[in-house]
Amino acid sequence: MRKPFALESYLQRSTLGVNRALDRLLPAATTRPATLHRAMRYSLFAGGKRLRPALLLAAARACGGKEACALPLACAVECIHTYSLVHDDLPAMDNDDLRRGKPTNHKVYGEAIAILAGDALLTQAFEMVAQAKAPLRYPHSELVMELARASGSLQLIAGQAADLEGEGKRLTLAQLRYIHERKTSALLCCAVRMGGMSANCTASQLRALTDFGRNVGLAFQVIDDILDVTQTSERLGKTAGKDVAAKKATYPSVVGLERSRRIAATLTAKAFAALRPFGDRADALAAFAHHLLERES
Ligand code: IPE
Ligand code: IPE
Ligand code: MG
Ligand code: MG
Ligand code: MG
Repeated sequence: MRKPFALESYLQRSTLGVNRALDRLLPAATTRPATLHRAMRYSLFAGGKRLRPALLLAAARACGGKEACALPLACAVECIHTYSLVHDDLPAMDNDDLRRGKPTNHKVYGEAIAILAGDALLTQAFEMVAQAKAPLRYPHSELVMELARASGSLQLIAGQAADLEGEGKRLTLAQLRYIHERKTSALLCCAVRMGGMSANCTASQLRALTDFGRNVGLAFQVIDDILDVTQTSERLGKTAGKDVAAKKATYPSVVGLERSRRIAATLTAKAFAALRPFGDRADALAAFAHHLLERES
């Protein structure tokens, strides 16, 4: 029998590699303006789970790619994700005090520097992509397009805008799905796709990775909504129960906890199914999908 995939050690190893690369690619904390660079590094190295970079590396592995080609892209996605959290926590948005187990960026550096640190992380991401070695099938223009689309006004930002506009309103499941697909699933799917691209994947591999990424990305936000209700702030490293307090439209608030759990399980099953063409090479991706669903309990 095949040994079960050792996800924990894979995640530890990938996090170490990503942290080293981020440290190398980012301006030093002492570089002028030092407050800004300290603020960028504060949120980036606050202890996030690094799931998006790990998914990117796992997708590259599924397509037989080299880690060195995927790493700069993994760093870029993590910079976008971290910027989106810094801005998400601002008083004008979700107004959160705790993130990754630490006070939020604006609590430590003030709102103005937090906004600028977010801006700089977003821009930094594209510099990282531009510096990466482009695979044969996917020139830099395509890699940049991929990341820009996922994080732009039709995807991540669209989701964030609709999330804020939905506060206090009764949304339909279709409206909620629109938000979640954009604010979270788009960047997760982009991470998986860029992993494949870094490994010079074929068009049919890219389609399968897209199918996987969309489903796992949506499941991820459904589970994030569930955890907000079922977990403590200590376990989450961010304030629990804040969605209810802010009257956010979430899966539990729209369809209830039990149905939310069933939806997350169905999406995860679809994600697994999408990995079939890769066989054993998708062992890390499959283990991730399983792990993301499990973190709910
Ligand atoms: C939090 O993402 C924001 C969502 C899109 C749900 P993560 O749960 O991946 O946060 P970190 O990176 O571990 O802090
Ligand atoms: C976050 O959604 C999505 C983005 C930051 C793009 P949430 O607002 O649910 O994330 P948390 O719960 O604050 O991490
Ligand atoms: Mg939010
Ligand atoms: Mg939030
Ligand atoms: Mg949330």
